[in-house]
Amino acid sequence: MWLTSSSIGRKFVMAVTGVCLVLFVTFHVLMNAVALIWPTAYNLVCEFLGANWYALIASAGLALLFIIHIIYACWLTIQNRRARGNDRYLVNSRPPQVEWSSKNMLVLGIVILAFLVVHLIQFWHKMQWQELMHHELAVLPQLNGAPVPPAFGTLFIQMAFQEVWTPIVYIIGFIALWFHMNHGFWSMLHSIGWDNGIWLNRLKTIGCWWTSIVVALFIAQAIVFTVRANQNYYTNDLALQEQYGEFWKEKSQAIVEDFRTSVQKVFANIDQTNPVAAQAAQADFLKENAPRYIEQANAVISSVEKQCPDLKVETLGELEQFKTFLEQNLQNIEQEK
Ligand code: HEM
Repeated sequence: MWLTSSSIGRKFVMAVTGVCLVLFVTFHVLMNAVALIWPTAYNLVCEFLGANWYALIASAGLALLFIIHIIYACWLTIQNRRARGNDRYLVNSRPPQVEWSSKNMLVLGIVILAFLVVHLIQFWHKMQWQELMHHELAVLPQLNGAPVPPAFGTLFIQMAFQEVWTPIVYIIGFIALWFHMNHGFWSMLHSIGWDNGIWLNRLKTIGCWWTSIVVALFIAQAIVFTVRANQNYYTNDLALQEQYGEFWKEKSQAIVEDFRTSVQKVFANIDQTNPVAAQAAQADFLKENAPRYIEQANAVISSVEKQCPDLKVETLGELEQFKTFLEQNLQNIEQEK
């Protein structure tokens, strides 16, 4: 097929996937801008995307684009090295400043890939992946010893950017991205043989501006996120605390409600006319299930303490009483043994 068998076809695939990735990166920097301007709205967007079918399709499509772009990049590089010479582009009028990026496109791509691996471990794996796996509170990623649910994007920003090395790794990645994207535009225009006219220069200028604005925004974001993370802004801000608190309040209610429903189910099958049997069944149920509910309650309580300290009493509602009730009952059962 033309897209795989001819050199120009392969360059075409690189260009199309490259343009799609540029659009993704542009969308991404705009998403991050929401975190910068309006952090609570950013968390709503994270919740909306989550691991829903539309977000999963987009992520799979994106992964495919990256994979095709990388495979074709390696393929073209091998081909170019074999046929070294001056015919890497249909039209060849490379100014000296393009030379450096051109020679280093593969290395720049590898630096971006390395950045991406770190980045996906810091964000995607802690957010979409956790939601996809339906992980329990106890195994969610933790900030200051308390679990963070996947929709709290701002707390993952806190987690990532409170590390000293994060802004350094990111800024290296952004610089590589600037050279890579900028040369990508240049290369795409030349691969299709467009080598003269005012529009070539205009398009190159547009490409350079586009790249520079996107990368400058990423750098500005990384700086602001680092400053805010080091001031613990994402756990001190009252609007954010209220948003986290709302989530934990619902979670507390859900835990208590789940316990009530389970108890009702168990007791529906017990012969209530026999008090000894009923008491034994109650004790068995508590011995088996109370530790799990206590663990969940502890996770919520520690998250509320760490993530919304100013709202503690209001948010926890009946959860603390519920936990004490379970602990006392377990203690009584142990003593009666
Ligand atoms: C300040 C810089 C950046 C921040 C704060 C940031 C933040 C995030 C966050 C929060 C997610 C998680 C999305 C989720 O799984 O729910 C994410 C995903 C991702 N980011 Fe970034 N990002 C930054 C820069 C970049 C750059 C420069 C690139 C590419 C060169 C990039 C590529 C990706 C990719 C591929 C994903 C996975 C998207 C998916 O879920 O399918 N990010 N980023």
